[in-house]
Amino acid sequence: MTHVLTALAWPYANGPRHIGHVAGFGVPADVFARYMRMRGHDVLMVSGTDEHGTPILVQADSEGLKPAEAAAKYNRIIVEDLDALGLSYDLFTRTTTGNHYKTVQELFTSLYGNGYILQKRTLGAISPSTGRTLPDRYIEGTCPHCGFDSARGDQCDNCGRQLDPVDLIDPKSRINGETPKFVEEDHFFLDLPAFADALNAWLDTRTGWRTNVVRFTKNLLDDLQPRPISRDLDWGVPIPLDGWIDRKDKRLYVWFDAVIGYLSATIEWARRSGDPDAWKKWWQDPEAVSYYFMGKDNIVFHSEIWPAMLLGANGEGGKGGEPGALGTLNLPTEVVSSEFLTMEGRQFSSSRRVVIYVRDFLERYSPDALRYYICAAGPENQDSDFTWAEFLRRNNDELVAGWGNLVNRSVAMAAKNFGAVPEPGELEEVDRELLAATAAAFDAVGGLIGENKVRAAIGEAMKTVAAANKYLADTAPWKMKEDPKRQGTVLHTVLQAVSDLKTIMSPFLPHSSQKVHELLGGTGVFAPMPRIEEVTDLDEGGATDGPYPVLTGDYSATPKWESVPLAPGTPLAKPVPVFTKLEPTIVEEEIERLNA
Ligand code: MF3
Ligand code: ZN
Repeated sequence: MTHVLTALAWPYANGPRHIGHVAGFGVPADVFARYMRMRGHDVLMVSGTDEHGTPILVQADSEGLKPAEAAAKYNRIIVEDLDALGLSYDLFTRTTTGNHYKTVQELFTSLYGNGYILQKRTLGAISPSTGRTLPDRYIEGTCPHCGFDSARGDQCDNCGRQLDPVDLIDPKSRINGETPKFVEEDHFFLDLPAFADALNAWLDTRTGWRTNVVRFTKNLLDDLQPRPISRDLDWGVPIPLDGWIDRKDKRLYVWFDAVIGYLSATIEWARRSGDPDAWKKWWQDPEAVSYYFMGKDNIVFHSEIWPAMLLGANGEGGKGGEPGALGTLNLPTEVVSSEFLTMEGRQFSSSRRVVIYVRDFLERYSPDALRYYICAAGPENQDSDFTWAEFLRRNNDELVAGWGNLVNRSVAMAAKNFGAVPEPGELEEVDRELLAATAAAFDAVGGLIGENKVRAAIGEAMKTVAAANKYLADTAPWKMKEDPKRQGTVLHTVLQAVSDLKTIMSPFLPHSSQKVHELLGGTGVFAPMPRIEEVTDLDEGGATDGPYPVLTGDYSATPKWESVPLAPGTPLAKPVPVFTKLEPTIVEEEIERLNA
């Protein structure tokens, strides 16, 4: 048994989740976490909403809300979205908790104490008319990298690069159009060059990473520059140094605090579980492993910056040092990055309304229909396109006609002819072959999930479904009225295959596996689900305003990743369909909705 940290990128609390957000890493990470639990590992799946930084401020402005109000509003919405998909978080929290602020400041202090944070004079923008600092997001100009003419002072929304206001060509204040004045002021930088050797040595010991992440990270490590970690902002974690802590206009940069969320969320989970030291099992035990899931635009934070921060806090960079108050912390085992999902050939964009929100999707279709599509056709190793026509085809031809049909035909026949799981007689070659195929599928599918090859894994599972369907067609138990003994053997065999497949499918399709479990006469929880719990902040000092929802769950009922013999005599009733066949007209309806 190993401690397995499953860490998912923190979504910005600036809107509901769309299916692009959950396709790249939300669902694939849940598949991984559920599987690892089934293998008996001690899994902790954590994340939360990323509530600081410009994206939240811009959204709050546009709705006339305070940043804390906007963050609270979208935190709640996102929690509901992720819950509806059945993502089995142990804790999905927020970056505005007092616990998070404390943990971030603790890490800053360790890094600072070890000399990995530099204080440097840089050029900051002020408004000439008021003399006050101009927050980055209120400065607009042309991006020096791509020429986009409304890049913001902290980021270009066209090419995605992080910027400094001083980088912008022809900068203007968005408040009144004036040209900002640049004055010298102090900011803090993470001394990335000091980690070059340690990061390279660490990367060399990594195995099994996707080639896109390795290539991208090697490139990053070739050119390490000090990276700013403070901003001219009044929304974020205060800088824990004398002369800075009380300043209202300087905060830590959002990405600096957000990546620390993995650690602070684990600590919060431990504190809420009643064993405040339990977090150490995932962070300090050298045998523990950690898998980080994200979209490719976030690789830099997880394969360069976060490991550098951990090395620095541990005192393991080029300048040495001492482990900080949180002890020596584990670096990521693997950074698993997906590519992007497009929709009907276009990029998702909430502002241009090229978007399908998870909640809208789930109003009309089941969570497992979406999870199936994402697992089978998601952007795992290359960008992929979501189309409604392909969703319809995969739902009807694969999920309903393949897996759903297998379940319904076999349970219906057994219920009708025996009213229970029949007693098997002597097995024939063809029966043994099917059972051998499902037994082998545990290893094949499991091995692939363990390597985060979800597309190949569900493909393997569906091949086994096809083998079981073929077995039914070949043996034709419905023609065995005169030979109930043989009929019972065949139906028992196929029901055993269905039972094995419900286990194999459960990391991908937990909602329907639970239903199949019940159709086979099973009781109790088979595929545990997350739940939303209202909590209050454990500490003062953060920026939550009142009780808030977290996603958590009790996953202790998780079954083992193995075949469990079906007990003959278990009563079976006429099955209800597990999946819903969709009308071809949905394609046009949905595309119309998209264009409306
Ligand atoms: N909020 C960021 C985004 O949506 C992701 C932050 S991941 C973290 O792109 F690791 F930094 F938390
Ligand atoms: Zn740009």
